[in-house]
Amino acid sequence: MGSLNLIPVVDEGLGNSTYLLDLGDGRALVMDPERDLRQVRAEASRRGLSMAYAVETHLHADFISGVAELAAVEGATVLAPEVGPRGFAHTGLTDGQTVEMGRFSLQALHTPGHSPEHLSYVLLEDGDLTGIFTGGSLMVGTAGRTDLLSPEMTVPLARAQYRSLQRLMEFPDTTPVWPTHGAGSFCSAGGSGDRVTTIGAERATNPLRQADGEDAFVAALLGSLGTFPDYFLRLGETNKAGPAVLDARPRLTPLSAAAVGTLMTDGAQVIDARQPADYAAGHLPGSLSIPFRPVFATWLGWLATPDRPVVIVRGPDQDPVDIATAAAKVGFDTLAGELDGGYPAWTQGHPGAEPVSLIKPGQLIDRLQTGAAVLDIRQSGEYAAGHLPGAVNIELGYLAGNLAGVPEGPVIVMCGHGERAMGGASILAASGRTGIAVFTGGPADWASAAGRPVETGTVMAAAR
Ligand SMILES: [Fe+2]
Repeated sequence: MGSLNLIPVVDEGLGNSTYLLDLGDGRALVMDPERDLRQVRAEASRRGLSMAYAVETHLHADFISGVAELAAVEGATVLAPEVGPRGFAHTGLTDGQTVEMGRFSLQALHTPGHSPEHLSYVLLEDGDLTGIFTGGSLMVGTAGRTDLLSPEMTVPLARAQYRSLQRLMEFPDTTPVWPTHGAGSFCSAGGSGDRVTTIGAERATNPLRQADGEDAFVAALLGSLGTFPDYFLRLGETNKAGPAVLDARPRLTPLSAAAVGTLMTDGAQVIDARQPADYAAGHLPGSLSIPFRPVFATWLGWLATPDRPVVIVRGPDQDPVDIATAAAKVGFDTLAGELDGGYPAWTQGHPGAEPVSLIKPGQLIDRLQTGAAVLDIRQSGEYAAGHLPGAVNIELGYLAGNLAGVPEGPVIVMCGHGERAMGGASILAASGRTGIAVFTGGPADWASAAGRPVETGTVMAAAR
């Protein structure tokens, strides 16, 4: 067996790994590519590889797949589990089928659970077991969530996931495991920060493997699930039908302030991608703060409405192609455009909204003493792990629908660093709330400044 040339291309924001495998004859296989193919293409081109195979472990819910584009633009053969007719040419695989690729062969292994059709792929080189692509079945320290299809299917799929993991555990301990979903993915339930593992490491340390039998496994898996973005419920169908091919790099059309004003009157939503401090200093009334960073796509997908035009406000140092590409990853293909000249252009003819106060630990402590309330908009699991005493938890993804749960009076919004919190503050501001502050730190920053411990548990984590 030669030395394996397997290149992981990690999307930290989506928490996913795409794998580029050099087949050794000028061709490459791409496992679970996403729509933003820039890095995969760069890695292939650097090595002089043509992407001959685009392979999918399951119908993705968390991002627009890149397999249809690789087929259309690079001529790749798409290999994917059978899910009924797709809107583009592909080879549907079922359990046990093998595809020969030069000295490599790829064998489909039906591992339902994360989805009913889910396939893992066993990679052999010259007939020798080399590793397993496990997609959203066996992952580092966890397994793929089973509640993305429907409430009725959550438990049956969790039972299927148990059996799939049992099946994977029949491989030797030394077998490398290459999952698609990893840390940061909303497709996972818990897990660790590592992106690859082995069968033996998971046998020894995966908490779900410690569960005693199928019922305990199901309880442990379902008990570890947090919420997931609503857009997960739409992207599967888009991926099945075949997303539009992004033949040119997505761009943002420049729009005058007057045109943006008209679009807003007609129902457009304004997404402000600038950093929290810029948004805090001044922003378009009603605009939603989603600072551009690796998780931008996820929060855009979660917080923006797909059937309303989207206008972007960005800073001069932010790349419009990066922003438009991130939006396309979650199905926002056709943004209306961007405010030409950014926020300063708006202020020439229009009033801005009330600034948001950015506060440090000392100011937070002062405000708490004068009766301000803390709204913690992190995921309930993060809140349970440690929060300020008395903080109210409403997850950012559910804040707009739970405004009645926000404490009256002055409110301080917080998360871990102030980025998601600014999104929460923008939702409150758009609803007419005033006197909003955002804490620029997290619970540990408050604890060290106050000399008090954070509180744990979920007593206040009521609203989702
Ligand atoms: Fe998934």
